[in-house]
Amino acid sequence: MAHKVGIVGGDGIGPEVIAQGMRVIAAAGVELDTIDYDLGGARYLKDGVVLTDEILDEWRGLDAIYLGAVGAPGVPPGVIERGLLLRMRFVLDLYINYRPFVAPDGSHEFVVIRENTEGTYAGEGGFLRKDTPQEIATQGSVNTRHGVERAIRYAFELATTRRNHLTLVHKTNVLTFAGDLWERTFNEVAAEYPQVETAYNHVDAACIYFVQDPQRYDVIVTDNLFGDILTDLGGAVSGGIGLAPTANLNPHGVSMFEPVHGSAPDIAGQGIANPLAAILSGAMMLRHLGETEAAERIRVAAEATASETGTTVEMADSVIAKL
Ligand code: IPM
Ligand code: MN
Repeated sequence: MAHKVGIVGGDGIGPEVIAQGMRVIAAAGVELDTIDYDLGGARYLKDGVVLTDEILDEWRGLDAIYLGAVGAPGVPPGVIERGLLLRMRFVLDLYINYRPFVAPDGSHEFVVIRENTEGTYAGEGGFLRKDTPQEIATQGSVNTRHGVERAIRYAFELATTRRNHLTLVHKTNVLTFAGDLWERTFNEVAAEYPQVETAYNHVDAACIYFVQDPQRYDVIVTDNLFGDILTDLGGAVSGGIGLAPTANLNPHGVSMFEPVHGSAPDIAGQGIANPLAAILSGAMMLRHLGETEAAERIRVAAEATASETGTTVEMADSVIAKL
């Protein structure tokens, strides 16, 4: 039976790269039963709709969601990010943000497991005395034992299927409350995985190692904001953000797959966006759907295309030719 997949092309280059991802999936012989959702900045500017409860209910019944990118000029910051992407992550409880990177020298792959529902992203905070000279803005970081522990446990389990090496990245020397919860939880769970070698890096140091010595990493686990920043850097040092895929996973429900990159309105509509990150996200989606063989063929073909240049369609053609 065909897998039921919701498609959110979104804004800018999103629909262009997702269209190529769909072509590659079809060429790999996997049949998807797709439902298109017109959502994103453009839709919001048209009729004010960002995301509805009805759509979220529908999504719960899907096998996966495949998303391009959202965000359009003219939409105030946060409307689409918080109202669509983060709402999707929070309401569908996509608590693992899984971002793999090929090391710059091509020697190995390392993975960042980013906690995806808490931290500074939770939206805690507010204004006091807004629009006065005494204005105060606070933005808290929410860290629950439950949320931290499930991300850490996922990372340990993943580490056991790989090189048995896991690094916690945080800023425990300054964020002494959140950092303490993360570190204690990490150490407690580590005791259950004696076969996994563990390490800890402060996030600023991790930035240096990402550039100078990524060989030291296999699996990394970190909080939402550190993970956001670190994975852009990961993309930049491992062939460019045009190559970096994401899985937003709810291990007990529907999951969502998207490239790390954004909607890039500056190059939208020109047919020049690199579709490889979307294609690799498609491969991650297929693996999640149990289509392991097609997923692996696409991943290998897309990685072999990484050094090439071409239009959006040419890049996808090149991947398809290698399938
Ligand atoms: C990402 C993006 C999002 C994030 C934005 C668009 C809200 O940068 O997926 O990394 O910060 O999580
Ligand atoms: Mn980001």
